[in-house]
Amino acid sequence: MSTDAIVILKDDHKRIKALFKEFQNAGETATKRKGTIVDKIIEELTVHTYIENEGMYPEVRKLVPDLEQDVLESYEEHHVADVLCMELSAMSPDDEHFAAKTTVLIENVTHHIEEEESEWFPKVRAALGRKQLSEIGAEMLELKKKAPRKPSQPGALKKAVDAVIS
Ligand SMILES: [Fe+2]
Ligand SMILES: [Fe+2]
Repeated sequence: MSTDAIVILKDDHKRIKALFKEFQNAGETATKRKGTIVDKIIEELTVHTYIENEGMYPEVRKLVPDLEQDVLESYEEHHVADVLCMELSAMSPDDEHFAAKTTVLIENVTHHIEEEESEWFPKVRAALGRKQLSEIGAEMLELKKKAPRKPSQPGALKKAVDAVIS
């Protein structure tokens, strides 16, 4: 398995986007199935956001000062996704807001993933060497092991909130 930081994150993105498609194709009446898919989306996003917040973003901020604004904007985008995930995790799939809120989450995260992949990951790859990216990747794989899997678990929201209000 590659420990390249960008390969690891893009791999997560792929799984997250596949779940988004599943939700979009589930059909209007598939309430229970949609609930199960959203549970999976929330779990994937909670872990992914955690390893980016704790592993990738602080390293990029430190090593590639040119990307400071992109990192700060990304923390804000994570924060918006965190809020939506937290609300969705407390909401029944029967709720009339459930599908609408999920759609807004999907739109926001899709936009965020596109910016990461097309705008700033290529700059990170250009600025950092293979060795540095693989060190960051190895650190993120370690973080994954202890990552929160639900928004309610300790540590799930902390870093993004710290970045936004400090
Ligand atoms: Fe991100
Ligand atoms: Fe990401």
